[in-house]
Amino acid sequence: MLSAKNIHKTYSMRHKTVTVLKGADLNITPGESVAIIGLSGSGKTTLLHILGGLDKPDQGEIFIDDESLYNLTESKRSAIRANKIGFIFQAYHLLQEMTVLENVILPAMVHGNLWRKSSEITNHAMSLLATVGLENRSTHMPLELSGGEQQRVAMARALMNKPKLILADEPTGNLDHATGSQVLDTLFEMTTKQNYSLVMVTHNRDIAAQCDRVLKIEDGLIIEEKQMDRGRKSEVE
Ligand SMILES: Nc1ncnc2c1ncn2[C@@H]1O[C@H](COP(=O)(O)OP(=O)(O)O)[C@@H](O)[C@H]1O
Ligand SMILES: [Mg+2]
Repeated sequence: MLSAKNIHKTYSMRHKTVTVLKGADLNITPGESVAIIGLSGSGKTTLLHILGGLDKPDQGEIFIDDESLYNLTESKRSAIRANKIGFIFQAYHLLQEMTVLENVILPAMVHGNLWRKSSEITNHAMSLLATVGLENRSTHMPLELSGGEQQRVAMARALMNKPKLILADEPTGNLDHATGSQVLDTLFEMTTKQNYSLVMVTHNRDIAAQCDRVLKIEDGLIIEEKQMDRGRKSEVE
């Protein structure tokens, strides 16, 4: 469903260049959950943005359902982003001047969406809010909610257009351990039930181990973490 081939990315600032990705490859099958780990600054967020059509690689290709994402026109690429990809960010990124329900509905309003009837949109958004346990908060403003609740709203928003691919960047990074676990449980439950693919960036190995596979970014390349290492680690703990 998603593959990355030979991805290179260098950022150039006035007198400095930082080469972040040096030929990264990746392949995600439908319904698979994959964690991406790596040191701070190793390029996890950069990779996620490239995978999601938000940042063009200098070299290499991203395929979503066999379509080469960066060979499409900007308008086709944004239609794919809207309909096939759901983003979840560490800092939630809800629009503060809109209600919870309006935030969840937002992706259905953007260019290229497949929705027709507004009653369908509202019903679907309310059912997503129910799934994340927030149906009684639909008319609240985001700042009236706790961090964990805001991230649940962001999850509902990410799932609004029934995207087959969820990209999450440190989704529990701003939450305490217990709240983070609850949010993750809900995320896994929602993606598993719908057979969505999940790519989740995290620097927490315990969280990463809950995914089907763990990939690591090191020196600009993506390497598969050996099953053995993960087994050994959980035995030690
Ligand atoms: N827009 C940008 N301009 C310049 N440098 C950037 C930009 N985005 C990221 N970088 C640099 O690229 C490297 C990787 O960043 P990032 O992908 O955010 O890492 P991670 O998410 O793994 O912490 C860092 O050294 C960062 O400073
Ligand atoms: Mg990051």
